[in-house]
Amino acid sequence: THDHAPLAGRLITQPVSSSLLIRITQRSRKCEEQGLPDIAVPAVQGKFLNLLLRSIGAKRVLELGTLGGYSTIWLARALPDDGEVVTMELLEKYAKVAAENIEAAGVSNKVKIIVGRAIDELQKLKPSPPFDMVFIDADKPSSLDYFIEAKRLTRPGGVIIVDNVVQYGQVANPDYSDHMVEGVRRLMNAIKTDTDVDTTVIQTVGTKGHDGFLYAFRR
Ligand code: DHB
Ligand code: MG
Repeated sequence: THDHAPLAGRLITQPVSSSLLIRITQRSRKCEEQGLPDIAVPAVQGKFLNLLLRSIGAKRVLELGTLGGYSTIWLARALPDDGEVVTMELLEKYAKVAAENIEAAGVSNKVKIIVGRAIDELQKLKPSPPFDMVFIDADKPSSLDYFIEAKRLTRPGGVIIVDNVVQYGQVANPDYSDHMVEGVRRLMNAIKTDTDVDTTVIQTVGTKGHDGFLYAFRR
């Protein structure tokens, strides 16, 4: 049973931050009127991303999948004043909500939202200056395509994180298939022989059940 999972998320860390972030999550939780699905990262994982960026002294971050800007704010808050998060969102409707949330969080000076198909927008980006970290949290069937672009745009020693690579354990279940799981499998299979990165998976159990981050160190 997963009954204890939400509790685990609350007990294992210091309180995760400001009333603003809590309000954004709560809004996205109950807010049908904004039309946002409740799929933002849980607070403990947002904080993990924030700590990772501070640990590596990151200044430039790329995010795929802005949604309401919840993770974007965690990322932006980890950066120095001259840092930048470039975040890509397919849907204008979500980008608009994100822009409001990012403004309310006081980090809009550090965030650039690009609206469009990430695979097209990525190809317009140059690898210089490179990104210190890329957070891939968009449509799962495109995961491998995004990862290949992320590698091109990340500096050696940088980190690429991919969300949702465990999918309640279904990625590792040979009897299960759906388009999200297959997208993750395609990425995982390609990574097995990829000498550009050193990788692991951090499995998580939290307010959103059993899932995980792929953690890739760019050689
Ligand atoms: C879902 C969760 C995610 O974190 C995501 O990026 C996309 C979808 C989901 O639970 O459906
Ligand atoms: Mg996700």
